[in-house]
Amino acid sequence: MDIKICYRKEVDSTNDWARQMAEEGACSGTLALADAQTNGRGRRGHDWESPMGDNIYMSLILRPEIPGFKASQLTLVMGLSVSQGISSVLGLPVMMKWPNDLILSGKKICGILTEMSASRTKINYVIIGIGINVNNCVFSAELADTATSLKLASGHAVDKREIMNAVFDAFEKNYNIFLKTEDLSGIQEEYNKVLVNRDREVRVLDPVNPYEGIARGINKIGELLVEKPDKTVEKVYAGEVSIRGV
Ligand code: BTN
Repeated sequence: MDIKICYRKEVDSTNDWARQMAEEGACSGTLALADAQTNGRGRRGHDWESPMGDNIYMSLILRPEIPGFKASQLTLVMGLSVSQGISSVLGLPVMMKWPNDLILSGKKICGILTEMSASRTKINYVIIGIGINVNNCVFSAELADTATSLKLASGHAVDKREIMNAVFDAFEKNYNIFLKTEDLSGIQEEYNKVLVNRDREVRVLDPVNPYEGIARGINKIGELLVEKPDKTVEKVYAGEVSIRGV
């Protein structure tokens, strides 16, 4: 799949711009890329700090021809690719906090916001929004303790084009495997290797029935397997609940 880059210096949100392009028929592989966002969005209604500068704000349109796939599976394919891409350039271990966050030196380096348009019978397109803190060194007081950037973690300025190229090289491989197997079986092992929660205690924030257990890794459809104290294993689906380290 070729990536077709559409660039603007500043947009409200690359996810919104990508959605507009997708509605106008943009093909799978179209990437909305900007240097700043005036209304960058995170999950659960949060803002995504998006100052002008050397960070990456981008959203990829995908239209996979796989019956019954879940958009959250593409979040995992992209998350693994960002982890592998950054690690290949900087030689630093970038870990996944299932399902959407990437962690470096114990702090958040990247967030992924996946959105989609679907009818009752099929998904029309998926937009994967990726925000990577590359060269910013200052965060708001709210994020100062929990966020970091590639520059802060590596100790030097980082070329964002090099990071993007490495991320999309990895994505191309991982996405082709996903299209071939029509699930995550081909990348599950690699994903579990970089899963920060693996074999650690997590709390599953199920609104009806929250519980704690040990995260054992993802299965081939991307659910997180959580072993409860009584040794039964729950399958946690990313769209339904989130988890927190304990
Ligand atoms: C999160 O961790 O809450 C997800 C953050 C996603 C941020 C990216 S930046 C590019 C794209 N455009 C947006 O408005 N959000 C995503």
